[in-house]
Amino acid sequence: MEGVTDPIYRKTVMGLFPEWDMFATDFLRVPTEGTITHKKALEHFGEEIYENLKLREKTTFQILTTPRANTEQTIQVIDELGFNHLDLNLGCPSRRVNAHLGGSYLLSDLKLLEQVVGGIRKKFNRCFTVKIRVGYKDDSEFDHIIKTLTDCGVEAITIHGRTKVEMYKGVAQWKYFSRACELTDVPIIANGDIWTPEDIEKIFTETNCYGVMCGRSAMKTPWLAQLYRLFKERKVLTAEQRLSLRTELNSIYFSSLERDLSPILGAEKTLKKMKSLIRYSFDDYDEGEMFKRKLLRTPELETFLHSMSLLKHNSTHAS
Ligand SMILES: Cc1cc2nc3c(=O)[nH]c(=O)nc-3n(C[C@H](O)[C@H](O)[C@H](O)COP(=O)(O)O)c2cc1C
Repeated sequence: MEGVTDPIYRKTVMGLFPEWDMFATDFLRVPTEGTITHKKALEHFGEEIYENLKLREKTTFQILTTPRANTEQTIQVIDELGFNHLDLNLGCPSRRVNAHLGGSYLLSDLKLLEQVVGGIRKKFNRCFTVKIRVGYKDDSEFDHIIKTLTDCGVEAITIHGRTKVEMYKGVAQWKYFSRACELTDVPIIANGDIWTPEDIEKIFTETNCYGVMCGRSAMKTPWLAQLYRLFKERKVLTAEQRLSLRTELNSIYFSSLERDLSPILGAEKTLKKMKSLIRYSFDDYDEGEMFKRKLLRTPELETFLHSMSLLKHNSTHAS
């Protein structure tokens, strides 16, 4: 996720919550002018993650490209570095990206879609997946999009159940996951508004999806995969137990991030990054919104961390 899953963040979260099967990098923008060096690709992926084979294998290298960009050269570098898994972002709704015919724009032009996706497929022999929305302006081309991607030979399709025009409005429509499973044998990965273990289970029960992908819910509950495993073992936690676990794990999560970010970024940038990560963290607390606003106004990292420790105190009282 852009602005979230940089290498330091991923390494910390991979260490704390190894129950996730896969992590994705934020997207590397394929340049229209100039080239991507091996050094740049490695930095984007995270050198320490690259050195650790187990973590490397769990990481998808995400790119965003346009028909005019230097995709072939970037793919060659990614291939030479031996990354196992490449994912193409076909969901980005950014006006600027779409004006350059990239991201979700490609869902509105199936010829270009075939050209870009087919071009990458020819150059990259390992696992190549794509992430889409259900259409650009509307869902009228959904079936054709799935067919085009299937014919191109992608290894999996992640579907965010909204069109580009919908941005984040309303709730993602899960009906598209079932429809896609009817249309293709390519594994379908469901995405959009999957917040709880019960949501994950519902998707697996009601569709033939191969997997789920969590965005905002993984920011809110980085231990969601762990909760789902507990759920599968029939260890279902009550709302109160979940909140108590949230308080405990939030404390570990944010202090671990601070420990790993501070020496590299310094206090000011660490505070900025931590603030960008708390958007959904306190949604389940009675006065979570107020607490979050207070944290967002905090000018010093030290005060920010101190306030976090108070959340633990308050929540212990509440439960
Ligand atoms: C901060 C943020 C950054 C995101 N970055 C990316 C990205 O780099 N690539 C991508 O395909 N989707 C990106 N998305 C979209 C999510 O992957 C996901 O499709 C969307 O948020 C809906 O799923 P969710 O309800 O699980 O969040 C981003 C979303 C957010 C909130």
